[in-house]
Amino acid sequence: MSLKTLKTKKELKWSANDIVYQIYPRSFKDTTGNGIGDLQGIIEKLDYLHKILKVDAIWLCPIYKSPMKDFGYDIADYCQIDPLFGNFKLFDNLVKKAHGRGLKILMDFVPNHTSDQHPWFIESRSALKNPKRDWYIWQKPKPDGSPPNNWLSRFGGSAWTFDPKTKQYYLHSFLPCQPDLNWRNPQVQKEMRKILEFWLVKGVDGFRLDALYHIIKDDKFRDNPINPRYIPGHDDPYRQFLNVYDRGRPATLEILNKFCGVIGQHKNKFLVSEVFYQTKVAELKTYYKLCQAGLHAPFNFNFIRLPWSAWAYRSFLDNYEENLSEGDCPNYVLGNHDRSRVASRLESRKKARLLAMLVFTLKGMPFIYYGEEIGMSNVPVKNNEQLDPWGKNVPGFGLGRDAYRTPMQWSAQKYAGFSKTKPWLPVARNYLFFNVKKELADKKSFLSLYRNLISFRKKSKAILEGNYYPLNIRSQNVFAYVRESETEKVLVLLNFASKTQKISLPFAMAELVCNTFLSRKKGQKINLNKLYLKAFEGYLFKLKK
Ligand code: NOJ
Repeated sequence: MSLKTLKTKKELKWSANDIVYQIYPRSFKDTTGNGIGDLQGIIEKLDYLHKILKVDAIWLCPIYKSPMKDFGYDIADYCQIDPLFGNFKLFDNLVKKAHGRGLKILMDFVPNHTSDQHPWFIESRSALKNPKRDWYIWQKPKPDGSPPNNWLSRFGGSAWTFDPKTKQYYLHSFLPCQPDLNWRNPQVQKEMRKILEFWLVKGVDGFRLDALYHIIKDDKFRDNPINPRYIPGHDDPYRQFLNVYDRGRPATLEILNKFCGVIGQHKNKFLVSEVFYQTKVAELKTYYKLCQAGLHAPFNFNFIRLPWSAWAYRSFLDNYEENLSEGDCPNYVLGNHDRSRVASRLESRKKARLLAMLVFTLKGMPFIYYGEEIGMSNVPVKNNEQLDPWGKNVPGFGLGRDAYRTPMQWSAQKYAGFSKTKPWLPVARNYLFFNVKKELADKKSFLSLYRNLISFRKKSKAILEGNYYPLNIRSQNVFAYVRESETEKVLVLLNFASKTQKISLPFAMAELVCNTFLSRKKGQKINLNKLYLKAFEGYLFKLKK
């Protein structure tokens, strides 16, 4: 691997309030005319991200060399860029141009598994005595020839695949072509450390750790217990066992600490880890505690799971706010490349606007999934046109992820301005109404709401530094809170109900920053003694100190 150091002029610092924009490179902007997004496309849109949206960092889903069986999450070489996306010249240019604008870059890093095309695996499977045999997880069949235990792959079927050449099974938490690495092997750890260093030297500002929860498995390979709540035919078959031994093992934290150790050796780097199945604040807390060196946060996925009620959101936040310590970085996710787009999950753009107001008025890092800012929704993909292996392998449970990975809608041009050719996934039918160009010109659009909230947030000491006080108000459907710093006080009112709610608060007149529909004039004074919040409407006010 070549360690050509990239000299960047600026050392960009992370702040615990940075806004991170997630790019799924295949779907962001195609400049080569093959219907698939690329690095040059991202470079061309940096001004949009920096000047228009004003985010602070971008997270790139995998761009490494890959056979693309899981669209890049199956890596064949961690130190090469897949030619589909570009090359190192383009990558270096991306880093330079992003840094020049003050934008940081987070690389998606996939430590749990490689592609079966990775030279390590090719060697590992070649012979029982191969020096890389123990880099992956191999086990003998049971006496009757069946897999070593009952562990299942997240993407369907057994987590074990028999390899006829050496007559053993290898483990794969995802597809059979994504064999799991053996993180108990110090050589694997050493090699991974080198790879992280390679990218840090290239100038990246941190990593998103993919599937961290799967990284260590029970060393005795015990069967998972049966899930008593599993309903055959109704539930995803993966749920038939409780994942006691194949994921979320206590040693996960030891591995995380190794990553943190690497990060901690460099200045201003950040790690965020995907621990999808851990959502309780107490569990999230354990991931903060352990990583002493370097800035690290476990993703908080609660906002994509909570039931729709003011109470549910408030009680989660009260708990999160109370339990995170100084230096722990709260963060908020409304959607990503594995989960439904927020506007579709909630079946309402009004509700999605409400959650936007929520995340941008809290302390912490909001993550924006590309297109979320223009209110993009899921795009139905016909069964026979599905590309995502998850949906194809486990049909009938709505697990396919193509619907939320469709091309970014830039304009009303053909293919939404994403590409000049037919894109790899269909463009949303509604792209004529929901696209960046149109929404920029529309003062009440989704994008305008994002821009209003982000610009206000960036200057607001109350939001960035202030305390959080939930208010106990009469309407249980309204989540009301104050954010207050020494110099500024803001009030947020979020109506979770589908009916108008009357509010009466003793704050006299308040200055309107915006309402979620952007229907009322900014800066006007509003009497909070009698305010009507429409269905799913939110208000952000400045209060007198
Ligand atoms: C989690 C990633 O977010 C997902 O997209 C991928 O398919 C799996 N890990 C396997 O790498």
